Amino acid sequence: MKFFIDTANLDQIREAQELGVLDGVTTNPSLMAKEGITGRNNILKHYVDICNIVDGDVSAEVIATDLKGMIKEGEELADLHEQIVVKIPMIRDGVKALKYFSDKGIRTNCTLVFSPGQALLAAKAGANYVSPFIGRLDDISTDGLSLIAEIRLIYDNYQIETQILAASIRHTMHIVECAKLGSDVMTGPLSSIEGLLKHPLTDIGLAKFLADYKKGN
Ligand code: G3P
Repeated sequence: MKFFIDTANLDQIREAQELGVLDGVTTNPSLMAKEGITGRNNILKHYVDICNIVDGDVSAEVIATDLKGMIKEGEELADLHEQIVVKIPMIRDGVKALKYFSDKGIRTNCTLVFSPGQALLAAKAGANYVSPFIGRLDDISTDGLSLIAEIRLIYDNYQIETQILAASIRHTMHIVECAKLGSDVMTGPLSSIEGLLKHPLTDIGLAKFLADYKKGN
């Protein structure tokens, strides 16, 4: 499973990259705003800065909600850097935009996906990635992880190549469960990735190894 970090914070992106396990980055307008990145030019520059830190795919989201606007913005984003993947919302014109970009060979990530039907539609339209938001489903007392399982089943039934990018990951166990369910990618905060490191028996075991070494040296 590929690991993407879900942030626009350059320090956190660098930290994940230095850990050596980062395969890409996802952003959205809320994450950009959180870092105080505003204005079209600053936003575009920030995407290039992110691409220069990581080796893998960087999802950059369109703001327009009409087909013409999404095409204009998406082409501008794709021209920024070869690592850019254009992020398109799962709305009617978004589906048309996915098909347009797919025909043009521009890679896409369909975002704000909350049902298996939406995921099927995104795949039919040629999306490279589909982003089911599991944490937000959990927030409304629905099982977000079961959506990953349902999409996996549907895609496997037809050998669909669209990659399942589990998004709205909130914690470490979401990552582990997504891996068990066969998600192709997960995108989460740095804390969720770092949580994978931790086990008290590792710390206790290492302390004992070091203490025993000291006794003999
Ligand atoms: O990748 C989607 C993500 O940014 C949404 O996460 O925590 O706002 O639901 P969250």
